[in-house]
Amino acid sequence: LTVQVNKPGAPVSQKMYGLFFEDINFAADGGLYPELVKNKSFETDDHLIGWKAIRGAAGLADYRVSSDRPISNANNHFLRLSVKTAGPDAGFVNEGFRGMGVKQGAEYTFSIYARRGPGSIGALNVTLEEPGAGAGPEAPGAGHTLAQAQLTGLTGEWKKYSVVLKPSATSAKARLKLTVEGTGTVDLDVASLFPKDTWGKRENGLRPDLVQLLKDMKPGFLRFPGGCIVEGTTLDNRYQWKETIGDVASRKPMINRWNKEFKHRYTPDYYQSFGLGFFEYFQLSEDIGAEPLPILNVGMACQFNSAELAPISAAKGPNAAGAADEPTLDTFIQDALDLIEFANGPASSPWGAKRVAMGHPAPFNLKMIGIGNEQWGPQYLERYEPFAKAVKAKYPQMQLVSSAGPSPDGDLFDKATAKLREWNAEYIDEHYYASPEWFRQHADRYDNYPTTGPKIFAGEYAAQTVAIGSPDNKNSWDAAISEAAFMTGLERNADKVAMASYAPMLAHVDAWQWTPNMIWFDNLRAFGTANYYVQKMYATNKGTTMLPVQRAAGAKNGADNLFTSAVADDASGDIVVKLVNYSAEARPVAVNLQGVKKLGKTAKAITLASNDLNAVNSLDQPQNLAPAETTFKVSSPNVTYTLAPRSFTVLRIPG
Ligand code: AHR
Repeated sequence: LTVQVNKPGAPVSQKMYGLFFEDINFAADGGLYPELVKNKSFETDDHLIGWKAIRGAAGLADYRVSSDRPISNANNHFLRLSVKTAGPDAGFVNEGFRGMGVKQGAEYTFSIYARRGPGSIGALNVTLEEPGAGAGPEAPGAGHTLAQAQLTGLTGEWKKYSVVLKPSATSAKARLKLTVEGTGTVDLDVASLFPKDTWGKRENGLRPDLVQLLKDMKPGFLRFPGGCIVEGTTLDNRYQWKETIGDVASRKPMINRWNKEFKHRYTPDYYQSFGLGFFEYFQLSEDIGAEPLPILNVGMACQFNSAELAPISAAKGPNAAGAADEPTLDTFIQDALDLIEFANGPASSPWGAKRVAMGHPAPFNLKMIGIGNEQWGPQYLERYEPFAKAVKAKYPQMQLVSSAGPSPDGDLFDKATAKLREWNAEYIDEHYYASPEWFRQHADRYDNYPTTGPKIFAGEYAAQTVAIGSPDNKNSWDAAISEAAFMTGLERNADKVAMASYAPMLAHVDAWQWTPNMIWFDNLRAFGTANYYVQKMYATNKGTTMLPVQRAAGAKNGADNLFTSAVADDASGDIVVKLVNYSAEARPVAVNLQGVKKLGKTAKAITLASNDLNAVNSLDQPQNLAPAETTFKVSSPNVTYTLAPRSFTVLRIPG
C-alpha cells in the first residue's frame, strides 16, 4: 500500500461522524430522558397509559381522567380519585417504562400536583417498590418496599408537593405506588419521579451513562429529532418544536409516531412527553461538543403519504384530504425562521427571549438546518424551493441540508437532486439501509460523485443482517466490519462527503421497534455495539486532511477483502491509516508512507476484531467486541504490520 503523504487531498470535514437521534425505540422517554413516571400528566388519552388502579382496592369508588379546572390550559387533564372506604390500597401504580430503574442510595425527587375535593383526604402515600415474583403491576401488597414517604397538608387548591426518595436496593423493574389517606375526592397531576444524578446534575437533565457514550464518540454534529418523527404519519402528529420548550409541566404529550406503527413490534404505550425538547437538544449538542442540526418538517408527512401534504399557500386551498384550517407551507417556514431566532437570537427578540428565559443567555450557535426528512420527488421540490428561499433571505449564512429520500441504489442523488444542485444546495442527505455485503460492495459509492456542488450528508445508514425492518437484524460483527469497510469510501472522498451518521442511535432492549441500533440500554445499563465502536474509531481518528492510498498493481479499494483509507492529523502530526481486513486470514501489509518528512519511533494500533462474524455485544457482555490498543516500533517509511483476521485497524503513525 502506498499512502501519498506528499500528495494531500481535501480537508476532512470536522463535522464527519456525527449522531442521528430519533425518538424511536424509547430513545427519549424511557431512555435519554430519565423521567421514571410514564404518562405523568394524564394527557395522552382516557386509557391511563402507564397507570393501573390497585386491584381489590375496595376503597376506590371511582377514578377518571378529568379536565374540571385544570392546572393550566396546556396541561388540562388530571386524575380524579374518589375513595369510599379508607384503606391502605386506595390508589394507583405507575409501571414506568418497562419498569423503573433505580439505584440503591441514589436520590430521586418525587413531585406531584394535588388538590383536595370534598371529603377528608389529607395525605398521599408514595411508595417505590420492587414488584413481588409474578405480581402484575396492579397487585397490592405483593411488592418489596424500596422507599416510602408521605405528603400531607393537601388543600382545595392545586399545589406542588415534593419529597426525595432514596431506594434501599437497586432495581431495574421498580414501580411507584400512590395511595391516599381518608375518604372523599382528590385530584392528582404531573406525578414525577426524577433522578438527581443527571448529566450536569441538571433538574431536567439527561441520563448520564447514555450521554457519556455519545460524548466519548466526539461527534461532529447531533441531528434531531428524527427521522420520520419530524413528519408524523399524518401532519397532525408531526413534531412541532414550539410545543416542546418552556415549562416542562406544560408541554403537551403526544402519541409517538412509532406507537403500534411498526409491523413487527407493538409498543401501544409509546408517547412523547417532550421533556426532552428542542432546548434540551441544543443543550445536549453543546454538552457533547456536537454541532446542532435540527431537521424540520417541509409540509409533508413521513414518506409523503400523498394525502398529507401541506398546501403551498392559502390561495391554493386545502388539499383533497385536508381540513379547511390545515396549516399551509407558510406555517412550516415560519416555524423554521422562529427556530433560528430561538437558537441564535438576542434577548430582545421574541424567540431569543424564550431561550434566555430557559436559562441560556448565550446563543446556541446554530449554523445549519435540515429541510425535510427523507423526502424526494416533485412534491418535495415545490415545497423546498420557497422554504429554502425564505430561510436564506432572512439568514443568508444558515447552511441548508436538503433531502434525497431513501435509496440503497445510489441513483436518487442524480435523479432527485438535479434541481437541488441547480439551486446551489449545500448538503444533500442520503439514506440507505442494506445488507452487510452491499456495504462492502459499495465502498466506491462516492468515487464518481461530482466534486463540485452540494456536499453529501450520509444522514442514515446501517447494515441490516436479515432485511430492512426485520426484527431479527443483529448488531453483528459482520454488519459492523462491513460498515467500517464502506466508511473507508467516505473518508477517501473527503472532497464530497462532509457528514455521516449511523441510524438509529438508541434502543431500549424491552421496547424497540427497529433493528439494528447503535446503542442499546435497559433501565440501568447501556452498551455500545460493535457498530458504535466502528463509528467511534472513525470519529476519534478523523484527522484533518485526506491522504490518497494506492494499492499495488492498481488494485481497487476492497479487492481481496482489503479496504483502506488514510488521513493526516495536523493537530498531532500523525498519519492515520484505516485498514479493514474482511478475510478470515491474518494479513501482513506494508504501508509505504510516500514522501513522509518526519517519522516518530512508536506507532499505535487500535484494533477491533473477531473471527466470529456473528459476534455481538450485549448488556451482560458489553465489551465482547471493543477496540484494543497496542504499540509497535517504526523504523522506516515502509511500515509493516500484520492485520488480524476479520479486523478493523487504525494505525496512528507519528510524523
Ligand atoms: O431510522 C429509522 C427510520 O428510517 C427513520 O425514521 C426514517 O427517516 C428512515 O426511513
